[in-house]
Amino acid sequence: MLEIKNIYKTFNPGTVNEKAALKGLSLTLEEGDFVTVIGGNGAGKSTMLNAIAGVWPLDQGQIIIDKTDVTSLPEYKRAKFIGRVFQDPMTGTAATMQIDENLALAARRGQKRGLKTNLSKADTEEFKSLLAFLDLGLEERLTSKVGLLSGGQRQALTLLMATIQKPKVLLLDEHTAALDPKTAATVLKATEKIVNKNNLTTLMITHNMKDAITYGNRLVMMNDGKIILDIRGEEKKKLTVEALLHEFEKASGVEFTSDSAILG
Ligand SMILES: Nc1ncnc2c1ncn2[C@@H]1O[C@H](COP(=O)(O)OP(=O)(O)O)[C@@H](O)[C@H]1O
Ligand SMILES: [Mg+2]
Repeated sequence: MLEIKNIYKTFNPGTVNEKAALKGLSLTLEEGDFVTVIGGNGAGKSTMLNAIAGVWPLDQGQIIIDKTDVTSLPEYKRAKFIGRVFQDPMTGTAATMQIDENLALAARRGQKRGLKTNLSKADTEEFKSLLAFLDLGLEERLTSKVGLLSGGQRQALTLLMATIQKPKVLLLDEHTAALDPKTAATVLKATEKIVNKNNLTTLMITHNMKDAITYGNRLVMMNDGKIILDIRGEEKKKLTVEALLHEFEKASGVEFTSDSAILG
């Protein structure tokens, strides 16, 4: 479903700020793979997701989504294949619009009449059942302004909006990092439900190693612009935070700082 082939990206080449962020990164995801991504600050995790989304051109390498080579497609032309959720609950939804209006925009994104938000009864019923599935009580608040929701509710809604058109790839960049631990857990559960229900091919960056072990069927670790560890299936289920720290140190030669944010 997603093939990343030997990609390279250097920012500000030829200047004092030159930074090689991706150094020959390759990764292949099967349909329905739910991959958690960990790695130290500056490892290139967000850059990898930006490369998939087409935020800027690559220096080298290829990106293939569902057998389509998208390497030279600009970001807006890839958008229909991709759902994204970022860390900040304030982005991704329109605060001054109602929940149902936000969902209608997301459902009609990319269509010619996409800006009309007049809702049919069928739309309302569909949105209600999607929200009920999340189990956050939002199905009773369809006409509430999104600005009145909590951060967790907003992230859950953003997630629903990012997946309502069943993207070929779902990209989550620390989408629960700004939430308190309890809310983060709720949003992660909702994430898992949505991913499983739609069999979405997903990359989820997290700095929480426990979450990286708990969620998904596969875990990759990045360091210095490359993937240094790729663990799946039964082997992943048996992982511990200690084992991950050990693997990180072994593969990178760098001692992982015992940062509580990283350990979770
Ligand atoms: N648009 C950019 N311009 C310049 N440097 C960037 C840009 N995006 C990322 N970088 C640099 O690339 C490296 C990897 O960044 P990033 O992918 O954001 O790391 P992380 O693994 O923490 O998400 C960092 O050194 C970062 O400063
Ligand atoms: Mg990042």
